[in-house]
Amino acid sequence: MTDDRTPSASSLTAPDGFPPSPGGHDPEVLRQRALDALLTARARTTALTDSVDEGELTAQHSPLMSPLVWDLAHIGNQEEQWLLRAVGGRQALRPEIDGLYDAFEHPRAARPSLPLLAPAEARTYASDVRGRALDILETAPLHEGGRPLERAGFAFGMIAQHEQQHDETMLITHQLRSGPVALTAPAPPEPTDAASLPGEVLVPGGSFTMGTSAEPWALDNERPAHRREVAAFHLDTAPVTCGAYRRFMADGGYTDPRWWAPEGWDMVREHGLEAPLFWHRDGGQWLRRRFGVTEPVPDDEPVLHVSWYEADAYARWAGRRLPTEAEWEKAARHDPATGRSLRYPWGDTDPTPEQANLGQRHLRPARAGAYPAGRAPSGAGQLIGDVWEWTSSDFLPYPGFVAFPYREYSEVFFGPGHKVLRGGSFAVDQVACRGTFRNWDLPVRRQIFSGFRTARNA
Ligand code: AVJ
Ligand code: FE
Repeated sequence: MTDDRTPSASSLTAPDGFPPSPGGHDPEVLRQRALDALLTARARTTALTDSVDEGELTAQHSPLMSPLVWDLAHIGNQEEQWLLRAVGGRQALRPEIDGLYDAFEHPRAARPSLPLLAPAEARTYASDVRGRALDILETAPLHEGGRPLERAGFAFGMIAQHEQQHDETMLITHQLRSGPVALTAPAPPEPTDAASLPGEVLVPGGSFTMGTSAEPWALDNERPAHRREVAAFHLDTAPVTCGAYRRFMADGGYTDPRWWAPEGWDMVREHGLEAPLFWHRDGGQWLRRRFGVTEPVPDDEPVLHVSWYEADAYARWAGRRLPTEAEWEKAARHDPATGRSLRYPWGDTDPTPEQANLGQRHLRPARAGAYPAGRAPSGAGQLIGDVWEWTSSDFLPYPGFVAFPYREYSEVFFGPGHKVLRGGSFAVDQVACRGTFRNWDLPVRRQIFSGFRTARNA
């Protein structure tokens, strides 16, 4: 698991032109967008932390996760460090607590035994910081010639994304907790033309533009834009479903080492794995637990809570493979009509509720084939939202990568230990999800909202 740390003095200077000048971006439009994004994030944070009692806020529901009250104060502390101190030049409000909320100083399993702010204090602290941050946002110069952190409202966008990332983390904690149901949401839309969809789409070979240098709030690891050559390949139209995954299970998928990477097979044996996390067998049928409700596993919903090793094994069993990160992005962004890469599969406009299942609106993925309005020119659907999709790729920097504004957001995680996930889940807000957005995790992790789709060479 990964997290962040205190900005160091040296990290506050960025090379010229990075992040890129906002170009056509009007500072007043960006100021409004930043305000909206911060308010949206806080509404979600409040819902996630007001829905359980004090005991549940301070408890550790899983050694993989922090107590919810740690996330809450950490959200406030990051906002204080970047918006109040770095942008606003303010003094520390509570310098003594910085260390407690530095993710690199204390692993998650150790956080419950720290002298953390109690729930009421954490709420007051986060809202105090927020009041001051909004004052700073009102007059911050967001124009092109300004400091890199302020240009195009970057720091405000970064902090809104950071809060939304922790809102997804807190939702994972909610999924891991036991006890009465705390969160509910309406069902996502049903597919309308799923029966007529081809199983896979063909993405023609050729180069395309990967990453971005223009998106004002793109994080350092998404930059810069660069050309990538991708050979022709076939990609699943939709993420792999629970029904398809059950055929792998029924065919002895978890008992045959042929399908597994060696470390994956070790994991299967060590933990006795036989199904995705949160599934259990009840007589002849598979049930799953989802936010406190136990229900039959739905056959046509994308499979969720699988590790990279499970996704990799399924793909090998199916005679296929996971897509590379570049293949995923080409299928999601490349528009053959113009030769350009789009911000999203459907074009350059921000997501609407008809295009993607994002923002914890539904608390589960939509069935495979839903969201026809969100499909890419390639014909692939549900690339954005629903489930994070494992790719075969290690998390590595793009050519020309420059850490900004701190090495501990991305750079310290580059390397073969972490696999890239793309496309976002139902649990992440649109401010922290776009065609270029890169997530990463260890290949054994499966408490995250992870699924996958498969590919094959053309
Ligand atoms: C990008 C999701 C891997 O949650 O560990 C939060 C995001 N970084 N605080 C994580 C993050 C710092 C990060 N991931
Ligand atoms: Fe964080």
